[in-house]
Amino acid sequence: MSPRVQPMQNPDEGVDVCALADIEDPGSKGFVIEQGDWPLHGFLVRKNDEVFAYLNVCPHAGRMLNWGPDRFLTKDRSLIMCAAHGANFEISTGLCVAGPCEGDALTKIETSVENGRVVVFVARGDQKGLP
Ligand code: FES
Repeated sequence: MSPRVQPMQNPDEGVDVCALADIEDPGSKGFVIEQGDWPLHGFLVRKNDEVFAYLNVCPHAGRMLNWGPDRFLTKDRSLIMCAAHGANFEISTGLCVAGPCEGDALTKIETSVENGRVVVFVARGDQKGLP
C-alpha cells in the first residue's frame, strides 16, 4: 500500500517516505504527501539500488500514471508506463521515449536514501501533484 506521509515543517528537511527495502529492485511505489486539501501524489522507482522520484502526473493529459497500487512500470520493468494512453518514460530521467508525449518529461522530485530510508524533498504548497 502506498504510504501517506505528513510534510516536514521545514521542506529542506525532506519527507521520509518508506524503507528502501520496501521497494522491489527493480520496482515502484506510490506515495502521498498530505498537504491539507491538496495532497501531493508521487512515486518512487528503484533500479540497481538507485531511487528516482516523480510527481504522479503524466505530461500528456495530466492523468495519474499507475495501473494499480504501486504499479508504474512496464511488464519487463525497464520503463515507466502511463496506464492512460501508454506513454513510456525512462526510469532515470523521466523522459518520454514513446507514446503521445514523446520528448516531454515527468516532473522529477529530489530524493535520497539515508540510513536505508527513502527521503523526498518537496516544497510545501507544490500543487502540481493533483490528480
Ligand atoms: S495521460 Fe499519460 S499517456 Fe495520456
